[in-house]
Amino acid sequence: MPVPIVAGNWKMHTSVTEGLRLALELVEGLDGVSGVEKVICPPFVSLEAVAGVLRGTSVKLGAQNMHHEVQGAYTGEVAPGMLAGLCEYVLLGHSERRSHFAETDEAVNLKVKAAFRAGLCPIVCVGETLEQRESGKAAEVVAGQVRGALRGLHNIMDLVIAYEPVWAIGTGVAATPETASEVMGGVILPTLQEMYTRDPAAQVRLLYGGSVSPGNVESFARLESVHGALVGGASLRPDQFVEIARIVVGAKSGG
Ligand code: PGA
Repeated sequence: MPVPIVAGNWKMHTSVTEGLRLALELVEGLDGVSGVEKVICPPFVSLEAVAGVLRGTSVKLGAQNMHHEVQGAYTGEVAPGMLAGLCEYVLLGHSERRSHFAETDEAVNLKVKAAFRAGLCPIVCVGETLEQRESGKAAEVVAGQVRGALRGLHNIMDLVIAYEPVWAIGTGVAATPETASEVMGGVILPTLQEMYTRDPAAQVRLLYGGSVSPGNVESFARLESVHGALVGGASLRPDQFVEIARIVVGAKSGG
Protein backbone atom coordinates (compact mmCIF):
# COMPACT_ATOMS: atom_id res chain seq x y z
CA MET A 1 0.00 0.00 0.00
CA PRO A 2 1.65 3.27 -1.10
CA VAL A 3 1.97 6.05 1.47
CA PRO A 4 -0.96 8.45 1.03
CA ILE A 5 -0.26 12.02 0.11
CA VAL A 6 -1.92 15.40 0.53
CA ALA A 7 -0.60 18.23 -1.59
CA GLY A 8 -1.54 21.89 -1.27
CA ASN A 9 -1.53 24.04 -4.38
CA TRP A 10 -1.31 27.69 -3.35
CA LYS A 11 -1.67 28.86 -6.97
CA MET A 12 -0.92 32.58 -7.45
CA HIS A 13 -1.62 33.51 -3.83
CA THR A 14 0.57 34.92 -1.05
CA SER A 15 3.46 37.36 -1.08
CA VAL A 16 6.78 36.03 0.22
CA THR A 17 5.97 37.40 3.68
CA GLU A 18 2.48 35.92 3.67
CA GLY A 19 3.84 32.64 2.32
CA LEU A 20 6.38 32.42 5.13
CA ARG A 21 3.68 33.00 7.70
CA LEU A 22 1.38 30.43 6.10
CA ALA A 23 4.18 27.86 5.89
CA LEU A 24 4.99 28.34 9.57
CA GLU A 25 1.36 27.83 10.55
CA LEU A 26 1.01 24.79 8.30
CA VAL A 27 4.17 23.17 9.63
CA GLU A 28 3.00 23.64 13.17
CA GLY A 29 -0.09 21.56 12.49
CA LEU A 30 1.21 19.17 9.82
CA ASP A 31 4.48 18.10 11.36
CA GLY A 32 2.65 16.06 13.99
CA VAL A 33 0.50 14.22 11.44
CA SER A 34 2.14 10.95 10.42
CA GLY A 35 1.13 8.22 8.00
CA VAL A 36 0.72 10.64 5.10
CA GLU A 37 3.14 12.57 2.95
CA LYS A 38 2.44 16.29 3.20
CA VAL A 39 3.46 18.57 0.34
CA ILE A 40 2.97 22.30 -0.09
CA CYS A 41 3.38 24.05 -3.43
CA PRO A 42 3.89 27.83 -3.03
CA PRO A 43 4.61 30.27 -5.87
CA PHE A 44 8.17 30.20 -7.26
CA VAL A 45 9.31 33.35 -5.48
CA SER A 46 8.48 31.84 -2.09
CA LEU A 47 10.12 28.45 -2.64
CA GLU A 48 13.46 29.30 -1.11
CA ALA A 49 12.01 31.01 1.95
CA VAL A 50 9.47 28.23 2.51
CA ALA A 51 12.20 25.59 2.01
CA GLY A 52 13.95 27.19 4.97
CA VAL A 53 10.83 26.81 7.12
CA LEU A 54 10.35 23.16 6.08
CA ARG A 55 13.96 22.10 6.69
CA GLY A 56 14.10 19.50 9.43
CA THR A 57 10.32 18.96 9.37
CA SER A 58 8.25 16.19 7.75
CA VAL A 59 6.56 18.61 5.33
CA LYS A 60 7.82 18.54 1.74
CA LEU A 61 8.03 21.21 -0.91
CA GLY A 62 6.67 21.22 -4.44
CA ALA A 63 6.66 23.72 -7.33
CA GLN A 64 3.58 24.49 -9.43
CA ASN A 65 5.18 24.26 -12.87
CA MET A 66 8.52 24.24 -14.68
CA HIS A 67 10.03 24.39 -18.15
CA HIS A 68 11.34 21.18 -19.70
CA GLU A 69 14.69 22.53 -20.92
CA VAL A 70 17.80 22.39 -18.76
CA GLN A 71 18.55 26.08 -19.39
CA GLY A 72 18.41 28.64 -22.18
CA ALA A 73 16.77 31.71 -23.62
CA TYR A 74 13.30 31.20 -22.13
CA THR A 75 12.59 34.48 -20.43
CA GLY A 76 10.40 34.13 -17.39
CA GLU A 77 10.71 30.35 -17.16
CA VAL A 78 12.18 28.12 -14.45
CA ALA A 79 14.30 25.05 -15.25
CA PRO A 80 14.04 21.63 -13.55
CA GLY A 81 17.55 21.87 -12.13
CA MET A 82 16.70 25.20 -10.47
CA LEU A 83 13.97 23.41 -8.52
CA ALA A 84 15.79 20.17 -7.83
CA GLY A 85 17.81 21.54 -4.94
CA LEU A 86 14.73 23.03 -3.29
CA CYS A 87 11.78 20.78 -4.05
CA GLU A 88 10.92 17.12 -4.19
CA TYR A 89 7.69 17.52 -6.15
CA VAL A 90 6.41 19.49 -9.11
CA LEU A 91 2.81 19.91 -10.32
CA LEU A 92 2.62 19.39 -14.07
CA GLY A 93 -0.23 19.91 -16.52
CA HIS A 94 -2.59 21.56 -14.04
CA SER A 95 -5.83 22.42 -15.85
CA GLU A 96 -5.12 26.14 -15.33
CA ARG A 97 -1.80 25.65 -17.17
CA ARG A 98 -3.62 23.79 -19.91
CA SER A 99 -6.42 26.35 -20.31
CA HIS A 100 -4.65 29.69 -19.66
CA PHE A 101 -1.21 28.85 -21.01
CA ALA A 102 -2.10 26.43 -23.79
CA GLU A 103 -0.15 23.53 -22.33
CA THR A 104 -0.66 20.47 -24.47
CA ASP A 105 -0.22 16.79 -23.63
CA GLU A 106 3.04 16.95 -25.63
CA ALA A 107 4.33 19.80 -23.45
CA VAL A 108 3.31 17.95 -20.29
CA ASN A 109 5.09 14.84 -21.57
CA LEU A 110 8.35 16.79 -22.08
CA LYS A 111 8.02 18.21 -18.57
CA VAL A 112 7.34 14.83 -16.96
CA LYS A 113 10.47 13.40 -18.60
CA ALA A 114 12.51 16.44 -17.55
CA ALA A 115 11.23 16.18 -13.97
CA PHE A 116 12.36 12.56 -13.70
CA ARG A 117 15.76 13.46 -15.18
CA ALA A 118 16.14 16.19 -12.55
CA GLY A 119 15.13 13.84 -9.73
CA LEU A 120 11.78 15.55 -9.10
CA CYS A 121 8.58 13.61 -8.51
CA PRO A 122 5.88 14.84 -10.91
CA ILE A 123 2.29 15.28 -9.82
CA VAL A 124 0.59 15.08 -13.21
CA CYS A 125 -2.86 16.65 -13.32
CA VAL A 126 -5.58 15.35 -15.62
CA GLY A 127 -9.30 15.99 -15.84
CA GLU A 128 -12.15 16.70 -18.22
CA THR A 129 -14.11 19.91 -18.70
CA LEU A 130 -17.86 20.11 -18.08
CA GLU A 131 -18.51 20.16 -21.80
CA GLN A 132 -16.43 17.01 -22.29
CA ARG A 133 -18.24 15.27 -19.44
CA GLU A 134 -21.66 16.29 -20.72
CA SER A 135 -20.86 14.99 -24.18
CA GLY A 136 -19.82 11.62 -22.76
CA LYS A 137 -16.12 12.11 -23.47
CA ALA A 138 -14.70 12.19 -19.92
CA ALA A 139 -13.15 8.71 -20.01
CA GLU A 140 -11.62 9.23 -23.44
CA VAL A 141 -10.20 12.64 -22.50
CA VAL A 142 -8.66 11.49 -19.22
CA ALA A 143 -7.19 8.31 -20.72
CA GLY A 144 -5.73 10.41 -23.54
CA GLN A 145 -4.18 12.86 -21.06
CA VAL A 146 -2.60 9.99 -19.09
CA ARG A 147 -1.23 8.34 -22.24
CA GLY A 148 -0.04 11.68 -23.57
CA ALA A 149 1.73 12.69 -20.38
CA LEU A 150 3.55 9.36 -20.08
CA ARG A 151 4.32 8.66 -23.74
CA GLY A 152 7.75 7.10 -24.16
CA LEU A 153 8.33 6.66 -20.44
CA HIS A 154 9.28 3.08 -19.73
CA ASN A 155 9.84 3.41 -16.04
CA ILE A 156 7.34 5.53 -14.17
CA MET A 157 9.06 5.18 -10.79
CA ASP A 158 7.43 7.40 -8.15
CA LEU A 159 4.69 9.11 -10.06
CA VAL A 160 1.62 10.88 -8.74
CA ILE A 161 -1.44 11.47 -10.90
CA ALA A 162 -4.11 13.90 -9.73
CA TYR A 163 -7.59 13.56 -11.19
CA GLU A 164 -9.07 17.03 -11.10
CA PRO A 165 -12.28 17.46 -13.09
CA VAL A 166 -12.07 21.03 -14.39
CA TRP A 167 -15.68 21.72 -13.38
CA ALA A 168 -14.86 20.86 -9.76
CA ILE A 169 -11.82 23.14 -9.39
CA GLY A 170 -12.50 26.21 -7.28
CA THR A 171 -16.25 25.85 -7.73
CA GLY A 172 -17.20 24.38 -4.36
CA VAL A 173 -18.83 21.54 -6.29
CA ALA A 174 -16.64 18.48 -5.87
CA ALA A 175 -17.14 15.35 -7.93
CA THR A 176 -19.11 12.61 -6.22
CA PRO A 177 -17.03 9.71 -4.90
CA GLU A 178 -18.78 7.55 -7.52
CA THR A 179 -17.55 9.76 -10.33
CA ALA A 180 -14.04 9.90 -8.87
CA SER A 181 -14.01 6.12 -8.55
CA GLU A 182 -15.31 5.62 -12.09
CA VAL A 183 -12.51 7.74 -13.51
CA MET A 184 -9.65 6.85 -11.15
CA GLY A 185 -10.30 3.13 -10.70
CA GLY A 186 -12.14 2.67 -13.96
CA VAL A 187 -10.10 4.76 -16.41
CA ILE A 188 -6.74 5.93 -15.03
CA LEU A 189 -5.68 2.66 -13.43
CA PRO A 190 -6.61 0.48 -16.43
CA THR A 191 -4.83 2.94 -18.75
CA LEU A 192 -1.67 2.58 -16.67
CA GLN A 193 -2.07 -1.21 -16.60
CA GLU A 194 -2.34 -1.21 -20.37
CA MET A 195 0.86 0.87 -20.68
CA TYR A 196 3.05 -0.83 -18.07
CA THR A 197 3.71 -4.48 -17.42
CA ARG A 198 4.76 -3.97 -13.81
CA ASP A 199 1.70 -3.34 -11.71
CA PRO A 200 1.33 0.46 -11.70
CA ALA A 201 -0.81 0.26 -8.58
CA ALA A 202 2.36 -0.35 -6.62
CA GLN A 203 4.20 2.66 -8.02
CA VAL A 204 1.66 5.33 -8.87
CA ARG A 205 -0.36 7.26 -6.35
CA LEU A 206 -3.69 8.70 -7.47
CA LEU A 207 -5.04 11.88 -5.88
CA TYR A 208 -8.48 13.39 -6.18
CA GLY A 209 -8.58 17.17 -6.58
CA GLY A 210 -11.36 19.74 -7.06
CA SER A 211 -13.08 21.54 -4.17
CA VAL A 212 -11.59 19.17 -1.58
CA SER A 213 -12.57 20.20 1.96
CA PRO A 214 -12.49 18.67 5.43
CA GLY A 215 -16.18 17.89 4.87
CA ASN A 216 -15.79 15.78 1.74
CA VAL A 217 -12.24 14.40 1.75
CA GLU A 218 -13.10 11.27 3.68
CA SER A 219 -15.51 10.07 1.01
CA PHE A 220 -12.68 10.24 -1.54
CA ALA A 221 -9.94 8.87 0.69
CA ARG A 222 -12.06 5.81 1.46
CA LEU A 223 -11.97 4.76 -2.19
CA GLU A 224 -9.46 2.03 -2.94
CA SER A 225 -8.17 3.79 -6.05
CA VAL A 226 -7.51 7.07 -4.19
CA HIS A 227 -4.27 7.70 -2.27
CA GLY A 228 -4.93 11.23 -1.13
CA ALA A 229 -5.87 14.69 -2.32
CA LEU A 230 -4.62 17.70 -4.25
CA VAL A 231 -6.05 20.72 -2.47
CA GLY A 232 -6.31 24.29 -3.75
CA GLY A 233 -8.39 26.78 -1.76
CA ALA A 234 -8.40 24.81 1.49
CA SER A 235 -4.60 24.55 1.44
CA LEU A 236 -4.44 28.29 2.19
CA ARG A 237 -6.32 27.66 5.44
CA PRO A 238 -3.97 25.89 7.87
CA ASP A 239 -6.78 24.55 10.06
CA GLN A 240 -8.52 23.03 7.03
CA PHE A 241 -5.44 21.59 5.36
CA VAL A 242 -4.21 19.98 8.59
CA GLU A 243 -7.67 18.54 9.14
CA ILE A 244 -7.70 17.16 5.59
CA ALA A 245 -4.33 15.46 6.21
CA ARG A 246 -5.64 13.90 9.43
CA ILE A 247 -8.82 12.66 7.76
CA VAL A 248 -6.82 11.06 4.92
CA VAL A 249 -4.67 9.20 7.45
CA GLY A 250 -7.78 7.97 9.28
CA ALA A 251 -9.53 6.84 6.10
CA LYS A 252 -6.47 5.11 4.68
CA SER A 253 -5.70 3.28 7.89
CA GLY A 254 -9.29 2.02 7.97
CA GLY A 255 -10.25 4.32 10.85
P1 PGA B 1 -9.58 23.74 -5.37
O1 PGA B 1 -8.33 23.62 -6.38
O2 PGA B 1 -9.30 22.76 -4.22
O3 PGA B 1 -9.58 25.16 -4.93
O4 PGA B 1 -10.78 23.34 -6.13
C1 PGA B 1 -7.74 22.39 -6.66
C2 PGA B 1 -6.61 22.58 -7.65
O5 PGA B 1 -6.73 23.38 -8.57
O6 PGA B 1 -5.56 21.92 -7.55
